[in-house]
Amino acid sequence: MTATTQRLHRTHSAPEAAWVTIPDLHEDPFPIYRRMREESPIHWVPAVNRYMVTGYSACHLIENDQDIYSADETNSLMKRAMGHSMLRKDDPEHDTDRRSYGGVLRPRAIKETWNAIFAKNCETYLRQLREAGPGSDLIRDFAAPYAAENLREVMGFYNATQADMQRWSQTMMDGTGNYADDPDVWALSDQSFNEVDDAIDEILPYLRKNPDASLLSKMADMPIPMDAIRANMKMTIGGGLNEPRDVLGVAVWALLSRPAQLAQVLADSRMYGTAFDEAVRWVAPIGMYPRETTCDAVLEGIALPKGARLGVVVGAANRDPAIFTQPDDFDINRDKKPHLAFGGGNHFCAGAWVARAAVADIALPQLFAELPNLRIDPTQAPTAAGWVFRGMTSLSVRWD
Ligand code: HEM
Repeated sequence: MTATTQRLHRTHSAPEAAWVTIPDLHEDPFPIYRRMREESPIHWVPAVNRYMVTGYSACHLIENDQDIYSADETNSLMKRAMGHSMLRKDDPEHDTDRRSYGGVLRPRAIKETWNAIFAKNCETYLRQLREAGPGSDLIRDFAAPYAAENLREVMGFYNATQADMQRWSQTMMDGTGNYADDPDVWALSDQSFNEVDDAIDEILPYLRKNPDASLLSKMADMPIPMDAIRANMKMTIGGGLNEPRDVLGVAVWALLSRPAQLAQVLADSRMYGTAFDEAVRWVAPIGMYPRETTCDAVLEGIALPKGARLGVVVGAANRDPAIFTQPDDFDINRDKKPHLAFGGGNHFCAGAWVARAAVADIALPQLFAELPNLRIDPTQAPTAAGWVFRGMTSLSVRWD
């Protein structure tokens, strides 16, 4: 008997959760996660065709062990939709790509360049929201174009519009989730793939002559293969737009539904950062991401065969009662513990500082300062959806 099989004999296999369905997850995953976590930190879920890892410590262990839990998933739909980006590589290949981003998304560049641009964009889209008038949708009319325009400028897509960024992001993300292999979904995703490549080819010569602080300008002289640059740009369009939009929507909704916490934030602007952290913990914008085992493994006493496809469900881990008290409550006064919404280990989100600056430092304070008595429109209930990605789908608001 080999060491591995001896180990496997002392372990048990993951329970099956055949009762979990994708429509239920899409509508509200949190009661499902609660039931799963109470039974086991890991389940085999036939509907998702993966092991879903819902316990905090199990997710944390995976994030920090790329030798066993590889990001380079076999038959990855993300690779098909966007090319082979850093998000689906392990080190050292991942590290080469990650280093190519240099300081573009880091605090110094945010202070020197991006904060002023985010403030300008916030002003623009707040004006449009005011012009649209009370009853308009905070997500559609403010959060989405604001996040898209910020990303457009950070990346340096001066030859595209924020609407292009939204369309590219959505269609390629739909490709990444196209488990049904729908040809119409691939057609739109492939069209965006080609449009992004064309936009990169057009803008790089300009940025070589006119270098600036943007990501594409940084890429213009990077000694890494063009295919890697293209894939990393597409992944960043997919991963850098919806998440700030979603945390902004969730934070506003949570505060508007809890007058005492809203009053606390309005009285002390430092609390916007706390509200951001709590919103991203409470409803993780990226609820699940994939990993694959490189060998037979045992995770928290559960045997996983080599090649097992895992879903790291940080949306569930962030509500694990072993770590967070009253985890289903949005509470800006809770004891601060590290959440997993930005991932961890070598793939820790490269845009976490950008998201915090755009949402916590600029958009939230400006929204509440410029829209007096901001409140939820009583005639239209807010809606939220999703589990792999989750956020508000509509948030109709009024102000005085
Ligand atoms: C609240 C907003 C955001 C959240 C919750 C978020 C979440 C995440 C998570 C969970 C990962 C790791 C996924 C994995 O390991 O498979 C990740 C990676 C990444 N994110 Fe974000 N993200 C946000 C905003 C942004 C923004 C604004 C940008 C770009 C401007 C960005 C760029 C990236 C990049 C480039 C990676 C890949 C890092 C690597 O593989 O080393 N993200 N993000």
